[in-house]
Amino acid sequence: MKKTNIAILGLLTVFSLTNWACEGPAGADGAAGVYLSVSPALASVAKGGTVSVTATTNNGTDGSYTWASSDENVVSVSGGTVSGISEGTAIIAVVGDESGASASVIISVTGETRTSYDYTLDINPMFTSDNFWFPGSDACTWCHYANDEEELHSKHVMDLGTFEGMMYGADPDPDNLAGSGHPLFGETTTGDTDYDWGNSMLKGRLRNNRMPQAPAWEFLRDESNRLGPDITVSDGVVSVIRPIQYTSWDDPDNVPNALGLIEAWVEDLKAGGDLNVGGDDPFSYAGDDGLTFNSDVLPFFTDDNMWFTNSTPCVECHWGNIEESYHLMDLSSYEGFIYGADGGEHPVLNGTKTALTSATDIDWGSSRIKHRLRDNRMPPNAPFLLSEENRDGPDVWDAVEGEMTTAVDLIGRWLGAGAPH
Ligand code: HEC
Ligand code: HEC
Repeated sequence: MKKTNIAILGLLTVFSLTNWACEGPAGADGAAGVYLSVSPALASVAKGGTVSVTATTNNGTDGSYTWASSDENVVSVSGGTVSGISEGTAIIAVVGDESGASASVIISVTGETRTSYDYTLDINPMFTSDNFWFPGSDACTWCHYANDEEELHSKHVMDLGTFEGMMYGADPDPDNLAGSGHPLFGETTTGDTDYDWGNSMLKGRLRNNRMPQAPAWEFLRDESNRLGPDITVSDGVVSVIRPIQYTSWDDPDNVPNALGLIEAWVEDLKAGGDLNVGGDDPFSYAGDDGLTFNSDVLPFFTDDNMWFTNSTPCVECHWGNIEESYHLMDLSSYEGFIYGADGGEHPVLNGTKTALTSATDIDWGSSRIKHRLRDNRMPPNAPFLLSEENRDGPDVWDAVEGEMTTAVDLIGRWLGAGAPH
């Protein structure tokens, strides 16, 4: 082990509070940047036991890697073999000898071989460690660290650093935390234990990239671009204000914006009660009642430069209800919007998993189209891979089953075991 690697380890873990825009490898399918992935990125091992870690170089090659432990008294490492020395936690840093790219692995050493899932060992490190979800990723707790937004400025009144905080969910009432937040784990009300990981808000935020992608939206901590660009509406014509500006977030009722326009169309379609009314049926927004899906809404999905400078048209990736079009989704026509994604199993006009059959099924609030246009994947700046291979997070070691799984699946297993503290 060389001394320099400890210095690198220091760099990996030291972040300044003002440095929010940490960049992961950018672009679609590795267009830019050499980076390492590690398997597993999180593991626990009993004292005296070992676990092997593999490193892979993406967008480059490394003939060999150099490994270092942040605390040799807790964990030692030789090659990729990690040995538990004494109870505690240490970080393993790995550096590609040619590329210089680095990644880190979180290892906890337990006294005994484990037989049950554990919040502190399995779950907490995923949300409190830098560089866990991808190299350069910020710990969630840089931004979500307290059930207080007013004074402590923790985003969405959310605390992802403690078991209790996670269980209170997002945006709870600070004066009445129990039962008032949006559940993170799919439970009916926070405090309930009917977890539904597959349909949970947290799983969606960890996996779902904000659209359009490649290039991606700029993540803004003040959320100002979440309703899309400001627009003008006059004489039946919608135009994006150029150069693009985002001022609607604080006054969405008075500043016409792209998401408001799309919402108005969706609500009108629902109120009309007929899914087959077609794309030329008029609806109103911002005081103009001569707008139609085909001339005013569709360009946001078929044209470039509509959402931000150089944004890709959605139809570049989603152009037909066929396999070759991502998620069998057609965003080029009215019929495609009604049909939805994945053979109709993922409607875009609501958030359910069954095909739309009537206009009453429409639900803008939970719709995939709304969420994909507004919600940034967490943590911000995750690399977007067309192959989707990083959507479940890094590999992690499931010490209970004695096998490798993914971060997202380990959270599901923990919930399945009743979310033990
Ligand atoms: C750099 C700051 C930052 C980091 C780091 C960060 N978030 Fe966020 N998070 C935000 C902001 C800002 C929003 C609101 C904007 C948005 O939804 O895109 C948000 C929204 C959310 C929401 C939705 C809350 C709601 O009420 O709808 C969840 C859930 C979430 N983040 C989870 C996470 C998780 C999990 C991580 C780590 C894996 C994480 N965040 C890391 C800033 C951050
Ligand atoms: C560069 C290609 C690309 C572009 C451009 C793009 N998407 Fe996607 N889209 C994907 C991929 C890949 C996925 C699956 C991975 C993911 O969810 O992040 C996806 C997933 C989705 C989903 C979820 C489908 C499901 O089955 O749940 C929706 C909805 C979506 N995109 C809407 C849009 C919209 C709206 C736009 C334009 C504003 C857009 N996409 C632009 C590639 C793209």
